[in-house]
Amino acid sequence: MNTIKDIQQEILKLKKENDICILAHSYEAHEILEIADFTGDSYALSVKAKSVDNKTVLMCGVRFMAETVKILSPEKKVILATPEAGCEMADMMDKAMIEKVKTQYPDYTVVAYVNTTAELKTICDVCVTSSSAVNVVKNIKNDKILFIPDTNLGTFVKESLPEKEIMLLDGCCPIHAAVTPDEVEMARTAHPDALLLVHPECRPDVSAMADFAGSTADIMAYAKKSDKTEFIIGTEISIAEHLQYECPDKRFYPLSGKLICKNMRLTTLVDVLDCCRGAGGEEIVLSNDTISKAKRCIDEMIRLNHE
Ligand code: 13P
Ligand code: SF4
Repeated sequence: MNTIKDIQQEILKLKKENDICILAHSYEAHEILEIADFTGDSYALSVKAKSVDNKTVLMCGVRFMAETVKILSPEKKVILATPEAGCEMADMMDKAMIEKVKTQYPDYTVVAYVNTTAELKTICDVCVTSSSAVNVVKNIKNDKILFIPDTNLGTFVKESLPEKEIMLLDGCCPIHAAVTPDEVEMARTAHPDALLLVHPECRPDVSAMADFAGSTADIMAYAKKSDKTEFIIGTEISIAEHLQYECPDKRFYPLSGKLICKNMRLTTLVDVLDCCRGAGGEEIVLSNDTISKAKRCIDEMIRLNHE
């Protein structure tokens, strides 16, 4: 009978033989992060996608992440490990809807959270991720910003940059947005010595109660560096799990049992094995036109983040 370790060994062998690079978002399961070549938040994965040498990139994450890799490395074969893994926020707004909104705000710079489809990115000006949003928007010359689709991350950026006139629409991540201030009170009562670290996709009244708000990678870095030993984690519960593996002397408590992204949970180690055997997943195919137009706003994010 195969053990998890046997499957992992087989994946490691096949990915070498078949020149595959495995990228995994930090929300993926522990046993997938263990065999990935690179793990991180959406920003880190986007930057990595530009410099991968392998012929094939296997993305363990959701569809917009695999599309981002394809946009940045069009000459590579990019496989999404689990074709059904979408992002509920990315699916909330499409190109036709935003084209209409743009006609109402022609002098606004359209800033798209990377959690959007490749097609929608083709009509946006600049992309952001949760870790780069404040810095990138700060460096945009225009003060008028239309921020899509996440109203919660948008509010976080707006509060950080009061000098900007930021228009928001009503998209959100239904998983993060479901967490309430009452749940924060309950978690604080249960763990009075813990620091609360949240993702800015949480509601503003939840983020306002936190000791720190940042991307998945920022939350992990903060918790690892901190002298404190207890943390309430306000993002997908996998992050509390991963932190517990990495820092066994500290304690991590999920802020809410609702914080489960079923799309991020879809990919299994066996899916990854099948993809390495050339038998699973979905190859991401985008037209040259979509790639060149969508690439502009991702490149612009990387440029503005380094200004
Ligand atoms: P990060 O930018 O922190 O990777 O977040 C992506 C995401 O989908 C969070 O729900
Ligand atoms: Fe999308 Fe929310 Fe899942 Fe992140 S947690 S991938 S924003 S649905």
